[in-house]
Amino acid sequence: MSIDRILSDKEFMKIAHLIIDNEEFQKRKNFLHHNDSVYEHSLKVSYRAYKFAKYLSKIYSVSIEEVIIASLLHDFYTTPWQDAPKIKKPLLEKHGFVHGKIACQNARKYFPNYMTLRVEDSITKHMFPLTKPPRYIEGWLITLADKYVSLNIFLNPCSLPKYIGIRGKNRSR
Ligand SMILES: [Fe+2]
Ligand SMILES: [Fe+2]
Repeated sequence: MSIDRILSDKEFMKIAHLIIDNEEFQKRKNFLHHNDSVYEHSLKVSYRAYKFAKYLSKIYSVSIEEVIIASLLHDFYTTPWQDAPKIKKPLLEKHGFVHGKIACQNARKYFPNYMTLRVEDSITKHMFPLTKPPRYIEGWLITLADKYVSLNIFLNPCSLPKYIGIRGKNRSR
């Protein structure tokens, strides 16, 4: 799915532009996320989660607006993790385990008006099973969409440590 195609979906953008147009969110174009930027990755995950939510909403109550907001902000952490100081940390403090919580704190700072229990829980727990399971259906759709978009990670197990936030000896960007 190309970014241009996502940006041209009027129904999706009606909600998504509230986040995408924000100057701080735009800075994620400079944060590397595997082969994409965090900006591109977040848009892809959000669009996928939105499609899941639309489909599911035919038979189950799901808040499409909160899915779009939370998924756009699911990786809204403050520093590209590759640039974080190379300090040895316990496993449970590594990027993969903590960045959902950091993203949520940062989202509260820049988007306080859009933070709801569902949005906050979905952002914080999107890395399940590295975190507690999401409490709401919206969070389950986002964690699923994130893994779906990152599927190449599971097809290439060598990149799994990087996904979790454990750096290899050769620090590559
Ligand atoms: Fe993430
Ligand atoms: Fe992600």
